Amino acid sequence: MMINKRLIQTVSESKKYIAGNVILQWLSLAANIGMMAAISVLLARLFERKADSADLLLTAAAAVVAVIIRFMCTVGASRMGYLSSKAVKKILREKIYKKLLRLGTSYSEKIKTSEVVQMAVEGVDQLETYFGAYLPQFFYAMLAPLTLFAVLSFVNVLCAIVLLLCVPLIPVAIAAVQTWAKKLLSKYWGQYTALGDTFLENLQGLTTLKIYQADDFKNKEMNEEAEKFRRITMKVLTMQLNSITIMDLIAYGGAALGVILAATQYAAGNVSLAGCLLIILLSADFFIPMRLLGSFFHIAMNGMAASEKIFRLLDLPESETKTEMVPADCTIKCENVHFSYEEDREILHGIYMTFPRGSFTSIVGESGCGKSTISAILMGRNKEYGGAVTVGGKELRELSETSLMENFTYVSHQSYLFKGTIRDNLLMGSPAATDEQLWEVLERVNMADFLRSENGLDTLLSEKASNFSGGQCQRLALVRALLHDSPVYIFDEATSNIDVESENDIMRQIRALAKTKTVILISHRLANVTDSDNIYVMDNGNVAESGSHSRLLEQNGCYAKLWNAQQSLETYGKEKEQA
Ligand SMILES: Nc1ncnc2c1ncn2[C@@H]1O[C@H](COP(=O)(O)OP(=O)(O)OP(=O)(O)O)[C@@H](O)[C@H]1O
Ligand SMILES: [Mg+2]
Repeated sequence: MMINKRLIQTVSESKKYIAGNVILQWLSLAANIGMMAAISVLLARLFERKADSADLLLTAAAAVVAVIIRFMCTVGASRMGYLSSKAVKKILREKIYKKLLRLGTSYSEKIKTSEVVQMAVEGVDQLETYFGAYLPQFFYAMLAPLTLFAVLSFVNVLCAIVLLLCVPLIPVAIAAVQTWAKKLLSKYWGQYTALGDTFLENLQGLTTLKIYQADDFKNKEMNEEAEKFRRITMKVLTMQLNSITIMDLIAYGGAALGVILAATQYAAGNVSLAGCLLIILLSADFFIPMRLLGSFFHIAMNGMAASEKIFRLLDLPESETKTEMVPADCTIKCENVHFSYEEDREILHGIYMTFPRGSFTSIVGESGCGKSTISAILMGRNKEYGGAVTVGGKELRELSETSLMENFTYVSHQSYLFKGTIRDNLLMGSPAATDEQLWEVLERVNMADFLRSENGLDTLLSEKASNFSGGQCQRLALVRALLHDSPVYIFDEATSNIDVESENDIMRQIRALAKTKTVILISHRLANVTDSDNIYVMDNGNVAESGSHSRLLEQNGCYAKLWNAQQSLETYGKEKEQA
């Protein structure tokens, strides 16, 4: 109950540091007992006027030695504490990180990003005290009273027994508040992550909030959450303060009892003066370690609440790692594919599509009809589909994620560019590429001239590539994808919201790519799909029509209607430009 076995097993490296810490603290206690014994004897002799300068010198020497030993032990113990916190941080953060990698691209379906961040930073920091201070203290706090008891029982058994019996009152008091404290702390953590979540969300959307002047409203909302957090923090602090007061009462009350008892035993002639003095000097030491454990306990509780969250993350089920490789013939077939994000609301209603190896296929259709949902299925992000999706005859679900990512490249209108240099971002596509190769591809999408006018491949991208235009970002995303050189490419609105020139540059590259690779293009603009081998026209989660551009126009169905509508819009736009 007061020790979390799983946590210790998770960081079993810390065991040796904890043991070292306990041993050093115990040595320090032994030195202290020796010093106090020497001082008691000296005091008794002084009182009896029997002390000479040799006694004084001897005691002083003993005291100096004891102080040196204690100093070294304290330094050593804190070093052990440091080493174990270091191990804890490293191991737990590594575990969290690796777990996220194993959860893979779909991790956010299971846990919020901000929660992971708080857990990995603040949560792990809280555990530092648990391992560095609480655990060693836990063992030392039991060892110390027993050691003192063993020593003092030679001096006066009654005093030793009474003091020893008072010590367990402190853990009893701790246990009494624990159940209550546990609930409170779990609430505290919930409120803390909720606040962090809102804060991150609002910070990311700050520009939007300002534009719509909604920042006042959000400000109020956050103030309310902060107030809730303040209240729960106060409750936690009150709880801690109260329990510390109780522990202090027990500790100092117990020590006082020891002192009184020693004095009465001396008066009754049951103990020598030196013995009585030794009991008085050491009685507080019975309680101090337990009392310290009590104050570490509250911080440790905080850490344990955090550790529960960490274990919840570590225990999230992983889809077992699949080992099937994507076959060389990577023809993709969707047969009777159904999909829904939420129960009772099916998005895809039994889709049949074929993307033959090396072909150029487009998917068009109104917004919300399920195009991106299909691309997410193909990229292995939506795993819970019904029906069959096969790659070269193998079920997509059974393919290893690594192999899928090597063979399928996905470019969307919001491909992520990382803060850092252009080179770093591009090398993700192909780590071994030389600068010449990078420039060659940049040249193809007409990005080279611009980059040369900047800092070349060392040009810095800021966070979310905010120092580059939308068209430039899309070109860079395309360059990275082209460098990846995989057999299958999926472009999901890779040219939406960008200028005509960028769009043309990108479309030219996609068409060239389609000559040698399997290309799936999702686009709103029908002018971009006219030369695909096959076009699927989707309507509300179904395939309404399919065929080449000219066949679809002949059919005069919904594709033809859409085409005519877009054509007249575009010619209207051009006429206006010319006028
Ligand atoms: N993560 C999600 N959770 C729940 N519903 C979703 C999710 N993603 C998409 N949907 C729903 O699925 C439907 C299809 O969305 P999808 O993104 O596939 O459309 P789309 O054809 O790509 O549209 P667009 O052309 O606007 O990109 C929409 O009704 C949408 O509300
Ligand atoms: Mg979409």
